[in-house]
Amino acid sequence: MTSRTLLSTPSLGVCYYPEHLPADCWAADFDSMREIGIRVVRLGEFAWSRLEPDSGEYRFSWLEQILDLAESKGLSIVLGTPTSAPPKWLVDQMPDMVAVDANGQRKGFGSRRHYCFSHLGYRKECARTVTRLAQALGEHPAIVAWQTDNEFGCHSTILSYSDAARIAFRVWLKNRYGPIDELNQAWGNVFWSMEYRNFDEIELPNLTVTDPNPAHELDYRRFSSDEVDSFNRLQVDLIRQYSPGRAILHNFMATFLDFDHFKVSQSLDAASWDSYPLGALTLLKVPAAHKARQLHLGDPDLTAFHHDLYRACGRGRFWVMEQQPGPVNWAAYNPAPHPGAVRLWTHEAIAHGAEVVSYFCWRQAPFAQEQMHSGLNLPNREPDVGAFEVRQAANELSQLDFAPSIPAEAALVYDYQAAWTLAIQPQRENFDYFTVVLSFYRALRRSGLNIDILAPGARLDSYKLVVIPPLPIVSASLVESLKQFKGKVLIGPRTGSKTPNFQIPVELPPGPLQGVIPIKIVRVESFPDFVSLPLVWKSVNYQCHSWLEHVRTELKPFVQLADGHGIAYRNGNITYLTSLPEQSLLDKIVEDLLNEEGFRFSEIPSGVRVRTRGQYRFFFNYNPEPVRLNLPPETKFVLGGAEMPAAGVTIVE
Ligand code: GAL
Repeated sequence: MTSRTLLSTPSLGVCYYPEHLPADCWAADFDSMREIGIRVVRLGEFAWSRLEPDSGEYRFSWLEQILDLAESKGLSIVLGTPTSAPPKWLVDQMPDMVAVDANGQRKGFGSRRHYCFSHLGYRKECARTVTRLAQALGEHPAIVAWQTDNEFGCHSTILSYSDAARIAFRVWLKNRYGPIDELNQAWGNVFWSMEYRNFDEIELPNLTVTDPNPAHELDYRRFSSDEVDSFNRLQVDLIRQYSPGRAILHNFMATFLDFDHFKVSQSLDAASWDSYPLGALTLLKVPAAHKARQLHLGDPDLTAFHHDLYRACGRGRFWVMEQQPGPVNWAAYNPAPHPGAVRLWTHEAIAHGAEVVSYFCWRQAPFAQEQMHSGLNLPNREPDVGAFEVRQAANELSQLDFAPSIPAEAALVYDYQAAWTLAIQPQRENFDYFTVVLSFYRALRRSGLNIDILAPGARLDSYKLVVIPPLPIVSASLVESLKQFKGKVLIGPRTGSKTPNFQIPVELPPGPLQGVIPIKIVRVESFPDFVSLPLVWKSVNYQCHSWLEHVRTELKPFVQLADGHGIAYRNGNITYLTSLPEQSLLDKIVEDLLNEEGFRFSEIPSGVRVRTRGQYRFFFNYNPEPVRLNLPPETKFVLGGAEMPAAGVTIVE
């Protein structure tokens, strides 16, 4: 199987740890994988101590044996580089390679991800190991793809306050600003006498008495993100050299914002991500009642959001590298998926365009940190529930014939720098970028339209509606695109409120956006959770929350509070919100904008989500009870029917 044929039809895969098992289990495991419909196997990403038990002592023969076996069984391999788990001998050789936290504490050996992205010695060791591995095995016919490292940033490991990071940060700043006075000016260092005489005086923004300068922090976030990018590229370049023709991916995470995933993805062939819907739900800032209702199915929009995000990162190409198969071990509580949920998540990923859905993991490890994390098989290698659902999904997918996916009609602009800016200076406890973004995404998704996620510089032309949740730093090019854009635009508060140097724009917020809507924000207020801002719109009671901007403008608001305070202003196709609307109000505003674009909402039962791929329209029942779809009698069902059980999937043509 060449990488091209693998990637053009959706396949199922699994994460496998042959180093956890005696070699005489491997063949039987591979046979069982094939039997349930698995065709792709990821391995190797934590195996450094078995690939190189001591400095320079390479042991690749077991890996070669596994690759040969996979080839003979018709399985395709994704080989992980082992750099997220450096072995003890290496940490002993270079004790300063570990990351340092904001309190100045060094990370210790004994788990994983104990390295600092900026440590040049560690980078050199990674380059050496990846080179040896790729030179030895990179042309093996079983290898169709590579995964660099594993989950950059997992366990909060992007920001490091090490000596290595400090040195690299100073160089990064010098490259960005040139003369030191430029930096002093850009950061506003005259405030509190923070001026520097040269770059060597600049520290990392930790251990200050009170908040460090937000401009200093923002540059440190940008720098840290760039360090991930260059660390990843180092491996990508070597793999391309010694293992040509293979797709190179990295497995990103959900709701993770500490580096710019659009930028890091640029050097990759496709993006992939690790989908743990039940674990991820526990981390969401949503009401407890919602968490209780969705306990066994996950949030109906969260997984889809990430499929759309990573499809964008991968420029149209994405995989799910790790799919939750049963209870996990790492969340605050770890319920089991509803019967059918693993199958539903599989179909949903494919509906959003995933090329591969790969489960984590094949066998529940009986030892070490993740012994309470389920796999497709029990610790004794008997199949667990997930394996049966995978077999069912594989059978169903083999009946489908996927044409290229249908383009999206609506889009949402997503920006990592926006998240950093709002986190650095929230102006209100818990002004959480991701939570706000998700509520905009939910409003779009109610329409049943396909949605694209866009980086701030992406083209807008093809959409009917583009939503821009808070985007504090707005580029001139985005304003130009908005001027040309013919569809509707919905813009969240705080957009255009900062310059790239983290200052208030001289023309006042929303800064350059005043080129498309004549408003000026002259005051902002923030409120606690127990305060709401009630209003009536089109005879319905709603409320806004958390945030309120005072506007100077000639425009008349079309949504306003009882006292007349403007909540939504409109100039032609551009709408600007001065507050955060509750979900039902945001839904209604989006619905109205889409209606104006000639789009009529079809009736989708609450808790059901839809997605169109090629000729197929998929319906997913995220309710813990059955629902009935209201479809015309002539509907051609490809899978399931109008009566959907809990966790049901229906596909119509
Ligand atoms: C991911 C990670 C895997 C495993 C899994 C458990 O974050 O990549 O190695 O730890 O979580 O859910």
